[in-house]
Amino acid sequence: MPLTAEQCHVDDDIRTAETLPAAAFVEPEFLAKELDTVFRTSWQLLPERGDDPRPLDEQVASRGSRVPVSLLGRPLFLQRGWDDDQLRAFPNTCTHAWFPLVLGADRGPTLVCGQHGRRFDCTGKFVSQPGFKEVPAFPRACDHLTSLPVASWRRMMFMNLEPSARPFTDTFAEIDASLVAMPPPLERLPSAEVREIAGNWKQHAWNYLDRFHIGYVHRPPGGLADAVDLGSYTTELYEDSVLQWVYAAKPEDGFDPSWLPERFRDDKKGRRVFALWWFVFPNLTLNFYPWGLSVNVYQPVPGRPDATRFIWYQWATDRAKHAERDKRWLSSQVDAEDVDALAQVSRGLRSGFAPRGRFAPNDEQGPHWFHKKIARSVFS
Ligand code: FES
Ligand SMILES: [Fe+2]
Repeated sequence: MPLTAEQCHVDDDIRTAETLPAAAFVEPEFLAKELDTVFRTSWQLLPERGDDPRPLDEQVASRGSRVPVSLLGRPLFLQRGWDDDQLRAFPNTCTHAWFPLVLGADRGPTLVCGQHGRRFDCTGKFVSQPGFKEVPAFPRACDHLTSLPVASWRRMMFMNLEPSARPFTDTFAEIDASLVAMPPPLERLPSAEVREIAGNWKQHAWNYLDRFHIGYVHRPPGGLADAVDLGSYTTELYEDSVLQWVYAAKPEDGFDPSWLPERFRDDKKGRRVFALWWFVFPNLTLNFYPWGLSVNVYQPVPGRPDATRFIWYQWATDRAKHAERDKRWLSSQVDAEDVDALAQVSRGLRSGFAPRGRFAPNDEQGPHWFHKKIARSVFS
């Protein structure tokens, strides 16, 4: 029996709320539902194309250029306008008999389907097709391509599969406000990494939003708990995003205060912010450090609820500091500790003895926010 809204209800009041049930992390039906709800209506970072190492914005920089991309198993393509220079995104599926329209990087004022010659312009409009002259009531609205929301942000491309999605600028408003003085990234490092890790994608998002585990999983000596001033840890909850930030134990590991807005300054004690850890619902993290930006995506694998495709990109602002990220910001160590902890949680989830959990009101506000949003999005 698939899970019901009632079985997944997460109360607004953190003190009485229960977590999502364990079944929501293991059942293929629930994952299919998430793909059709949460992932269809949220802004998603477009993964880079395997056959071209350049960032996507470079690949569609010139007028009329187009490239095929894929998001969660759905074929799509990006298209730069021929007349207006605007970037657009479309399903990579012909409206005649569903052949893919763009098979590789290409450029031109129109594109022609390889199966029966239907032609579209760069705005997705049907232009012509042999054999269709005498067809009445043609073309219909659905014979044109559906334009999907797309946005370019800090040299990354984002897409939404819902044409009437909440605007990207609304979703990113608080994030942008925190970055007004942050220097832009200098370069994308060639260390893009994609690997499969154990556990449902939600376990990883939940863990990211969970400050409670830091004192345990990343414990002293030598853990993240040592590198930060844990007592200053702050979680800010917004509509589509969450910011977690903390002061560094050593000021030299923190941001230059002029890079951050006023509210992060600590003129009294001279403490400096260790990192801005931004989470964008449902599965993206943007981690700003004094060395640059680390981007993580916890991608679900369609049909396999117990696996996550982990995508990791890095952008450097300061190359010398970037080289020290494992030593001073414990990048690899924290990653390895989390991956290991969540593999253990996966075994617990499938034990048949995993009741719905409860939340510690002061320490688990991020996880509560996440569980609540999932339940709402899946059953709305
Ligand atoms: S499938 Fe594209 S023209 Fe027929
Ligand atoms: Fe962690």
